[in-house]
Amino acid sequence: MRSGKLVVAQIGAGKFAEYQDLPNISSLPQLALKWICDLDRARAEELGARFGAEKVTSDFREVCADPEVDLIKIATSHEIHLPIIECAAAAGKHIFCEKPMAMRDEEAWKIMKAVRKNHVKLCVDLNRRMSPALQALKKSVYDHLANPRHSPWRYIETRREPLPEEEFKHLLIRIQDESSSYGLQHVDPLIGGGEIIGESVHWLDVACWFFAPARPVEITAWGSSRLSHGINLKFSTGDDMTLTFSCSGTFDYPKELFEVTAGNALFRSEFFVENTVYGVPGAEKPEYFPMKHYSGAIKAEGFAAYIAKYRERVSGFGGNQKEIETSHPFEVDKGHLNMWKAFTQAILEDRPSPCDELAGFQSTYLAQLAIRAIECRQTLPVPVERFVPAIFLR
Ligand SMILES: NC(=O)c1ccc[n+]([C@@H]2O[C@H](COP(=O)([O-])OP(=O)(O)OC[C@H]3O[C@@H](n4cnc5c(N)ncnc54)[C@H](O)[C@@H]3O)[C@@H](O)[C@H]2O)c1
Repeated sequence: MRSGKLVVAQIGAGKFAEYQDLPNISSLPQLALKWICDLDRARAEELGARFGAEKVTSDFREVCADPEVDLIKIATSHEIHLPIIECAAAAGKHIFCEKPMAMRDEEAWKIMKAVRKNHVKLCVDLNRRMSPALQALKKSVYDHLANPRHSPWRYIETRREPLPEEEFKHLLIRIQDESSSYGLQHVDPLIGGGEIIGESVHWLDVACWFFAPARPVEITAWGSSRLSHGINLKFSTGDDMTLTFSCSGTFDYPKELFEVTAGNALFRSEFFVENTVYGVPGAEKPEYFPMKHYSGAIKAEGFAAYIAKYRERVSGFGGNQKEIETSHPFEVDKGHLNMWKAFTQAILEDRPSPCDELAGFQSTYLAQLAIRAIECRQTLPVPVERFVPAIFLR
């Protein structure tokens, strides 16, 4: 700690660090950035100068050895998480790790062990659960189920008890991805592992968070573990999540679309900017969520306005739009800053992490199981003893 602030070191200074972590760290008064570490030292120096880091290095061990550092943020490629976390935990540092926490469940067990043995806190950046739009979606579903109201013109069965399936909740997640977001490193088997392990850990985590305390019991998956795929995850309550992930889509449609059907109503969230409810009287008005970064002229909110803002931003740029990312920050609120805030508070007030090592393990484990389900074309059980492992600390 320095003057009441947590001293932070950033390990991995790539695109994500530049557009999320370092601006988020700079915006929080409880944090003081001390180190930036990247294998590419010139890159660490460039970002260090821009974000005011006191020290740069290309060796993460140097960061872990600094007694002043309280919190280490990891935004490297995935394969190196385990050695960094083991080193950081042994030095008593708290750790905020990018998703996926690990590429294999064995690595994830070792991470859980290192963190618990050394009594440090770990947070995994499965940030969607912290987005204002998904938190509001979850609240509106459970509020409705606690006090169901139905449009008078809808036919709702009142003359018999509902059949069990009529009370199941269904979560549909549709992802339209573009290659700008899954560069080749993300599909490299050694450092990326493909889109199920790299990206779908997000949606597996959203499903577990949404249906908690129910536990997943069965998984089916199809397609390619590297790119387009689908997953169905069933819960102990009969609820389920179905994911369709397409790498041939377009961000002009909601890149991420969430739909819940429950209690004879439908709740939809379009790319973190607009939530709509169907079938509940008095809830017809869409709820809008502000973007995290946008500095243009369009004042309206909601998904149509988001697309108009997107077009405004890219107009005037010809050809491939990838380079625009670097010059025009433009982003919906997917919960990254909220995760930073919640984890910072958890450390300062000694409270549980908002997305701890068990959640990190479980999303990795389910992603591995989905890959196995694709490879053997089988529906697989999610055994409780694998989903909630016993960790023996010695
Ligand atoms: N939570 C989210 O929504 C979200 C979104 C985008 C990316 N991410 C995650 O962020 C991470 C980084 O993604 P990116 O797009 O910035 O990748 P990137 O390739 O741009 O950056 C990774 C950086 O890590 C550095 N690095 C690798 N091994 C290192 C080591 N041993 N020591 C120090 N530096 C090392 C590389 O040199 C590179 O600069 C990935 O894990 C990705 O899954 C998360």
